[in-house]
Amino acid sequence: MLDRSVPHTFAGASRRRRLTQAAAIAVTALTAVGLAACSSSTGGSGVSTPAAGATAPGNPTSGTITWWASPITTSGTDPRTVLISAFEKAYPNIKVNLVSAPNDTDTNRATLTTQISGGGGPDVYMGDVIWPAQFGAHQLAVPLSKYLPKSYWDMFAQGLVQGATYKNQVYGAPFFEDQGFLYYRKDLLQKYNLPVPTTWEQLVTDAKKVQAAGAVKDGYVFQGANYEGATCNFMEFLADAGGTVLNSDQTKSTLDSAAADKALAFEQSLVTSGVSPQAESTYQETQSMNAFAAGDALFLRNWDYAYGQSQASGSKVVGKVGVAPMPTFSGQPTPGYSNIGGWNLYINPHSKNIAADVTFIKWMTGNDAQTTLATQFSEIPTNATVRSSADVKKANPVLAIVSETKLVPRPAQTPDYPQVSKAIYTAVNGVLAGSAQPKAAITKASADIDSALGGGL
Ligand code: GLC
Repeated sequence: MLDRSVPHTFAGASRRRRLTQAAAIAVTALTAVGLAACSSSTGGSGVSTPAAGATAPGNPTSGTITWWASPITTSGTDPRTVLISAFEKAYPNIKVNLVSAPNDTDTNRATLTTQISGGGGPDVYMGDVIWPAQFGAHQLAVPLSKYLPKSYWDMFAQGLVQGATYKNQVYGAPFFEDQGFLYYRKDLLQKYNLPVPTTWEQLVTDAKKVQAAGAVKDGYVFQGANYEGATCNFMEFLADAGGTVLNSDQTKSTLDSAAADKALAFEQSLVTSGVSPQAESTYQETQSMNAFAAGDALFLRNWDYAYGQSQASGSKVVGKVGVAPMPTFSGQPTPGYSNIGGWNLYINPHSKNIAADVTFIKWMTGNDAQTTLATQFSEIPTNATVRSSADVKKANPVLAIVSETKLVPRPAQTPDYPQVSKAIYTAVNGVLAGSAQPKAAITKASADIDSALGGGL
């Protein structure tokens, strides 16, 4: 679900992303399949770069293009229209028509794939970072690296281009990055003399105390509904417990493990102990955000933009919110893992003016648009120059700690990722809803993943 509300201006801070060693290994392992067949013509990033003279069909400076994008904010100024107007000023002969896409990433993908497979769809679309393998394998996106040189891809922060690559071609231009963070009520932790938790166990202890004192209804709210967001949250618990979903060549499930049982049993215990609400199994980003912004929860797991939303007018916790990297299980090195999310820009293979699409994408990933996204809408910019700019680095508490997070990607380098994820979120959701038990749910999810990878689910 892409649901963000950052209606006020931020002086955002940016950062150079630091993948910890473990996360770097995870990313490397996940991209190894795609990069294994690198030929000598590939650039240092392992991406095939265009042959000299490769040109995109259409006119790069004129025409009308449609841009499919889900809302980046839910109130206040719409960043999509701000960016479109600035682009049209820079390129007066290109007109961009916005098509507002569904909020939920799963519905968004299903709608779009139906349109594109049927020969239609928008010219450019904003799509999730988990889409490149599926979209690349099924010709639902143009390999952008055919038209954009290595120097273009080099301007992005480390790791993002690899995540958008499938079989040596880059399908998505990184537009903004999301990461999971722990938001907490700093007023309440202070009042009850409690530490900002660095472990899940501490989080539970803090939560129970503040709940027992009657200061909040819920201890911890997160995303547990039957959709992609539940996979994102589970990936964090799973990585904290030392587990993985797939083997390194993405051909087999590695999910059926003591680590996965521990991760899911912990999620279940959050609900059964009352630290998290019974309604967790229906919570997407919006519901968990609403509970926190209403002052009902001590802790919230959400993406970077949630800070802005917690400080927006209408929120009851303005001035009372702190943000930290995610906790981990006791005994593990801190911090815990944050899942990597975010959105890329892709081109529909049926587009008649790919040259203008490329112009639009270049501008949207360039300094002006990225600075707007980072400073006015508290997004994590993908453009490395903007990320490291002193002006952009001011005042946003989320961007200020981005360099401390430890990242875990979803296993999205397989074109079967939608089914892999569905197996995970179905298991998680069933357990949170009380209709399944962790060990059995994990065993079933693992078997479902194996049949998905074999093309059977
Ligand atoms: C955010 C992330 C995206 C993820 C989605 C899940 O929009 O950027 O990657 O799939 O949340 O709800």
